[in-house]
Amino acid sequence: MALPRTLSVIGAGQMGIGIALVASLRAQIPKVLLYDRDPAQITKGLAFMDKLLEKDVSKGKISEEQAKAAKERIISISHSSSSSKDGDESGWARELGERGTDLVVEAASERVSIKESIFRALTQNLSKDAVLASNTSSISITKLAGAAVDGLGAGVSRASEEGKACAGRVVGVHFFNPVPVMKLCEVIPGLQTSESTLEKAKAFAVACGKEVTTSKDVPGFVSNALLMPFLNEAIMCLESGTATRDDIDKTLRLGMGHPMGPLQLADFIGLDTCLAIQETLYEGTRDSKYRPSVLLGRMVDAGWLGKKSGKGFYDY
Ligand code: 3HC
Repeated sequence: MALPRTLSVIGAGQMGIGIALVASLRAQIPKVLLYDRDPAQITKGLAFMDKLLEKDVSKGKISEEQAKAAKERIISISHSSSSSKDGDESGWARELGERGTDLVVEAASERVSIKESIFRALTQNLSKDAVLASNTSSISITKLAGAAVDGLGAGVSRASEEGKACAGRVVGVHFFNPVPVMKLCEVIPGLQTSESTLEKAKAFAVACGKEVTTSKDVPGFVSNALLMPFLNEAIMCLESGTATRDDIDKTLRLGMGHPMGPLQLADFIGLDTCLAIQETLYEGTRDSKYRPSVLLGRMVDAGWLGKKSGKGFYDY
């Protein structure tokens, strides 16, 4: 299965940076366009990537030449560098199209409205052959495919041949944090994802050094339908005073051999992301077992988002 020549990663947060890195270093995709609307986010992400590459060189895992080549394959694009600075909201998407993107991995915030508007802009501007993948943790791939079809214009219905072909190019590729370390990519076909799109997504993940599992398009897929109730239960234990933070985490680390306790892991993922995923699970299933804990909501209200904000269940 041919790999993409030009990959666009949308979002330079911890997931987007990790995906761009493994795509460049491991899969050796010739051109990796890294887009974020915030130039500061790109600067921060690229600096972190440099540190990871330097560490790999110093440990003898890769050569200096490999690190240099991996960096050179990555081209950053932000509002300030794309035509969108002229007030053209989808200028960034046009730039990704003009540069020949044949695979997109969207890794923006875990919000349906944000992701839908990205997918609409992508179909307006990219080649009709490009594969449109999302790194969403929980949002329906079929829903994002619907937004992609809407991007073709009011004249194209979702059930038309053109609509079906467009939806067929949308797929989920769910990586795990930290992307360079975690060995899995969960691939999710939506209801209309074509066999060839699914195969391209799997081939890309394997080239990035990942093992692949497949999940149906249900809220949270396999991974987060299992992980999030576990993390939520740990937060509820803390909330109800069953045990202290340290004892909850220690129980899972030392009793069950988890590399991180659940409260530390929730901080690591990001409490806003955990809440967004739990809300998708709860709303998507209407099952009370997925109800997010009140404490989690309050912490997000307080801006205590975990490691990335300097405070969560722990201080950083
Ligand atoms: N980015 C890249 N590499 C990182 C990293 C990061 N943020 N953090 C750590 N690493 C690397 C280190 O550089 C080191 O690499 P090396 O072996 O080449 O030196 C290696 O990971 C081990 O790091 P450390 O020795 O510093 O620390 P630990 O041994 O404690 O491991 C950990 C850190 C790998 C993060 C480990 O604690 C772990 O596996 N934690 C669980 C992570 C997890 O469950 N992730 C999935 C979250 S769920 C998800 O992402 C899905 C989403 O939809 C919510």
